[in-house]
Amino acid sequence: MDLERMLRKCHEGQWKTSDLDWSQPPRAISKDDEIAIVQLFTDMAGIERLAGALFVEQERRATTPVLREIFGTFVKDEVRHAQTAQLLADYYDVHHYRSYRTSRTLERAFPAFVDAIQYLADDVANAYITAGELILDVALLRSVDDYVRDPMSAQAMALINRDESRHIAIDYHMVEYYASGEYKARRQRTRRPWRDEARAWSAFARLLMYARPFFRDVFFFPMERIDPTGTRLREAFKRIQLLTARPTVAELPFVRFMQALQDAHNSRFAGPRARAVIARIAGAEPQFLSQLATDEELARACAMSFDALADEALAAKRA
Ligand SMILES: [Fe+2]
Ligand SMILES: [Fe+2]
Repeated sequence: MDLERMLRKCHEGQWKTSDLDWSQPPRAISKDDEIAIVQLFTDMAGIERLAGALFVEQERRATTPVLREIFGTFVKDEVRHAQTAQLLADYYDVHHYRSYRTSRTLERAFPAFVDAIQYLADDVANAYITAGELILDVALLRSVDDYVRDPMSAQAMALINRDESRHIAIDYHMVEYYASGEYKARRQRTRRPWRDEARAWSAFARLLMYARPFFRDVFFFPMERIDPTGTRLREAFKRIQLLTARPTVAELPFVRFMQALQDAHNSRFAGPRARAVIARIAGAEPQFLSQLATDEELARACAMSFDALADEALAAKRA
């Protein structure tokens, strides 16, 4: 990937919330839908803040000045997305049916996530960020916009999506880097002090405790309403499976751990209790732990470049 060109795109693609025309009136919306939409945007503001905090961490870890600068623009993008989401929440809160606040599970998970990303190994932190962005971009944002069906949301989402396309491209680029021999050799050379290792494990344990309720409240339950067929979420999880099927990615310890969870979940020996425990650790709902890509799709993905895979994920988002 031409990172200098990407950085130029990052700078050129900047925009302001005031570029949007907030004076247009929203379409007529039922009471139930208004409440759901305002809550969705309120939580979206929180998720975008979290994404911003995670990119601060990516910026800190960046190994080259150009990557550091790219992540710096991503932090700005996510802050702007959070502000836009909050403005959208207020814009659609026409009747003030109730007061809205960020879901408690998201509030609780926020510090656990930031902490975990700080202490987990680079490739693990990047895996969470990439998976999170795929779920957010391919499934949630797109479905929210379809559900709202209003020009104001569509205009804002178009700008947000333009930024997110850059994020996904770099997320995939980083997955490629963390799957490289160069990174793996570096990781083996630099053994972390046991204190840091212990912090990483305790941060991971806290993450496991808070991740599932947060994902349920903010991703899975709202998606049941706005994407009842589950098509978009399945597509997002399929993208994750295609990416992690690549041999260099598949041999990373964290990916092997997640794959082992998935295999155990799908094993015919696993009872309902074991499956529930596994789903909790994986942070996903059971239906997304089955193999969602066909063997041909997996083989095809393995033969593609990371850039081409990222492009395909972006195409799925627009489809
Ligand atoms: Fe964002
Ligand atoms: Fe993003």
